Amino acid sequence: MSRKLIVAIDGPSGAGKSTLSKALAKRTGYINIDTGAMYRAVALLAHRQRIDPTDEQALQRLCSSLVIEFVREAGQERVLVNGEDVSRQIRTPEISRLTAKVAACPVVRDALVRLQRKLGQAGGVVLEGRDIGTVVFPHAEVKFFLSASAEERGRRRHEELRAAGVAVDLQQTIAEVEARDAADSIREHAPLKCAEDAVVIDSTQMSIDEVLELMTREIAEKQQSFGGE
Ligand code: DC
Repeated sequence: MSRKLIVAIDGPSGAGKSTLSKALAKRTGYINIDTGAMYRAVALLAHRQRIDPTDEQALQRLCSSLVIEFVREAGQERVLVNGEDVSRQIRTPEISRLTAKVAACPVVRDALVRLQRKLGQAGGVVLEGRDIGTVVFPHAEVKFFLSASAEERGRRRHEELRAAGVAVDLQQTIAEVEARDAADSIREHAPLKCAEDAVVIDSTQMSIDEVLELMTREIAEKQQSFGGE
């Protein structure tokens, strides 16, 4: 029986992390954990409850009663928060902006990191985020840092939003990707940073399949080094 690994995929928004972690989880039979969706869920609830993103006490209360589940329905991954399917609502530009703010809050990060460790500790998981290989699982067996140029990432995010029926301007989407990158990189608590032992992949000129092949090879090599098949 092969060892169940922890696979971390970190990198800025729009680099292809979601698509690749889903595809990788499907190929390996691992569970996919979208940690960005968890931060988005907190932002959505904060928005609904009119909680200010700097109000740590209110955010802590919100996190203490939070139940997040990832379920697969008719081949689609769904995010349930306290039993409600919020998969679409957490992806609007407004919630994206608010998410960057609540993700900078230490009490939110502490609560979600704890939850992520609980979900992933048994292995057999692909976790995607910003701080998986550096903070959540610094000893993850396989770490990827996936990036692409800001223009390309903005273009991809624009396509995604359009496909989901959200009408937005391309230049504005690129500007928002850049603004969010900056907020994620300079924040004091767990900023976006590449782990020293991560495999760095620049996907600007690569297809999803090419990146997927590269990642699959990397995981297989790691399995072999542990004596698995
Ligand atoms: O990957 P995403 O675009 O869904 O992430 C949404 C926001 O959450 C983004 O501003 C970065 C933040 N995030 C984070 O700070 N740490 C994570 N592990 C995942 C996401």
